Amino acid sequence: MVKQKINCAVFVSGRGSNLKSIYKYSKTKYSKILLKLVISNKPDVLGVTFARRKKINTKIINYKNKSLAEKNIIRYLKKNNIRLICLAGFMKVLSKSFIKKYKYRIINIHPSLLPKYKGLNAHEKVIKNNDKFSGCTVHFVTEKLDSGKIIIQKKVKRFKFDTPQSLSKRILFEENKLYPIAIKKILTKI
Ligand code: GAR
Repeated sequence: MVKQKINCAVFVSGRGSNLKSIYKYSKTKYSKILLKLVISNKPDVLGVTFARRKKINTKIINYKNKSLAEKNIIRYLKKNNIRLICLAGFMKVLSKSFIKKYKYRIINIHPSLLPKYKGLNAHEKVIKNNDKFSGCTVHFVTEKLDSGKIIIQKKVKRFKFDTPQSLSKRILFEENKLYPIAIKKILTKI
């Protein structure tokens, strides 16, 4: 067991189900993280409501000017001594210089079995290509979109009757379990 917990920030843009699962993990007896900060580029989303309800320090970032937005984020990260950033449905692409500053300290969850189906609309692509399986991936964030080293993946069967919505629902259920496992797995390396 580590003595000092690692300060963690979660970045969201919407519903926040992965934020919730990370929060829940952070509150377990042997968790190694302290969820200190939530960053959102959108003010009125469920993720933000949840974070505020749980009294987590929550910052809404105006993204009209990306470089200014990232400067502000970095200020908050430093202020809170953040050592791990978890992207959880954060729909903004971080700049190369930002990623460089936090190399191997930013992880992301993506709703496909990477390297398949990077970017948007993964579920639609799985169905269109008639794949038997899809799933989810937690990976390190690098300058190339959805291409960093894979930490962990979970396969999910795709059924004949699946719509993008039904598939997405089953994958999200697995995502929520997978994210804390991924965090535990990398913490020894941070
Ligand atoms: C999740 O399905 C996550 O994999 C996806 O956004 C959703 C966020 O859900 N992320 C991406 O597509 C990133 N490329 P949540 O807000 O309920 O955690």
